[in-house]
Amino acid sequence: MTAPKKLFIKTYGCQMNVYDSERMAEALGGKGYVETKSADDADMILLNTCHIREKAAEKVYSELGRFKGLKAEKPDLKIGVAGCVAQAEGEEIMRRQPLVDLVVGPQSYHRLPEMEEKTQTGEKALDTDFPEEDKFEKLKRRPKAKRGPTAFLTVQEGCDKFCAFCVVPYTRGTEVSRPADRILTEARDLVERGVREITLLGQNVNAYHGGMTLAQLIWELDKVDGLERIRFTTSHPNDMQDDLIEAHGTCAKLMPYLHLPVQAGSDKILKRMNRSHTAESYLRVIERIRAARPDILISGDFIVGFPEETEEDFQATLDLIKEVKYGTAYSFKYSTRPGTPAAERPQVDPEEADDRLRRLQALLNQQQREVQDSMVGREVGVLFEKPGRFDGQMVGKSDYLHAVHVADCSKKAGDLARVRIVSSGTNSLAGELID
Ligand code: SAH
Ligand code: SF4
Ligand code: F3S
Repeated sequence: MTAPKKLFIKTYGCQMNVYDSERMAEALGGKGYVETKSADDADMILLNTCHIREKAAEKVYSELGRFKGLKAEKPDLKIGVAGCVAQAEGEEIMRRQPLVDLVVGPQSYHRLPEMEEKTQTGEKALDTDFPEEDKFEKLKRRPKAKRGPTAFLTVQEGCDKFCAFCVVPYTRGTEVSRPADRILTEARDLVERGVREITLLGQNVNAYHGGMTLAQLIWELDKVDGLERIRFTTSHPNDMQDDLIEAHGTCAKLMPYLHLPVQAGSDKILKRMNRSHTAESYLRVIERIRAARPDILISGDFIVGFPEETEEDFQATLDLIKEVKYGTAYSFKYSTRPGTPAAERPQVDPEEADDRLRRLQALLNQQQREVQDSMVGREVGVLFEKPGRFDGQMVGKSDYLHAVHVADCSKKAGDLARVRIVSSGTNSLAGELID
């Protein structure tokens, strides 16, 4: 028997890329590849890339440059670029970096096995189609490999919203939902492999419409024995349907955490961003969710320095943040993306944008701190994931997605337990088991 070939995958960007990387590894598993944690001993290197901001895309080229030495030592080494940069730049990648053998977009990676074969004959392989067939159906699952306690599951992909700053509708294509029965089969399979918590993924996950609404899908998942926790991300404020809001109050397996990006607090900017909601309508959605589930932890995304954003517009974002009080948030300086409508508009002075980002993050960090500290003294559910840094310690995530560690812990990975929070550290909480 020949030794298995080794595959090194590096994943950038969002959780959907994490999920896609797993599926790509499985697809190449069928060609005799096993995963390795080091690029140095790989027979194939795949970068699963992100195009959302300029820096993310540039990182790919600098990373590729670093593989020059490796390829010189090992001429049979194959180098591939997958994900959103692959989709956006296509052949340009091979022109700019001739050591690349393979370029595959997010909608065509089920064709990786044939593409890999092509590279073995010394040819280059490129596929950035948006094919009709369902890639997930074409991909074979690895036979019964064990899994950790948490998993991602893509249920919806692509976006039709066309926010003026965003590349996702171009790199991922139009909105497509996977049929509910296939998702449920995949979920049951994950649970059989040891998964206890599933995070449903979609660029606009709450626009899900695979024969039912996202809330209905959650209720179907609620019936799966052995599945203890359900999460979903990322949602759009305009797709927050009544039944989904209600499920937050009534479905015990649905965790009290909601990532609901708003991007900005000024209606003028929201309009120019083509977000099709106002600050007020966003706040009303938050109000309704909190009425259904008062303790829910709200998370958000923000962009500062969007073209023509004034200090007054920026203040409106700070005001909105103060009103919502976020448990966690992701904030970015606007990054010009070629081909998007906002790229053509008058840009904000970069130093001014840096300053706004600093001020915004100071406020968000303060809120995050307060929300985390407010957990002290409370009882929460914790799903343990792995041993901690110290002997006997276990770490996991609370219902609210805070990292929690417990000393002298009798639980193992995959156990769910009630924990009393005793102190709040820099990035995590300390707790003790109840009973
Ligand atoms: N579908 C999700 C998020 C997709 S991208 C949604 O609609 O909210 C993740 C985040 O990246 C966005 O929420 C936004 O805050 C940020 N982002 C997207 N394009 C950006 C750009 N051109 N510059 C800076 N941040 C950007
Ligand atoms: Fe991008 Fe807007 Fe679609 Fe989110 S909703 S993926 S920010 S275009
Ligand atoms: Fe990035 Fe593509 Fe995800 S651009 S954020 S990897 S959808």
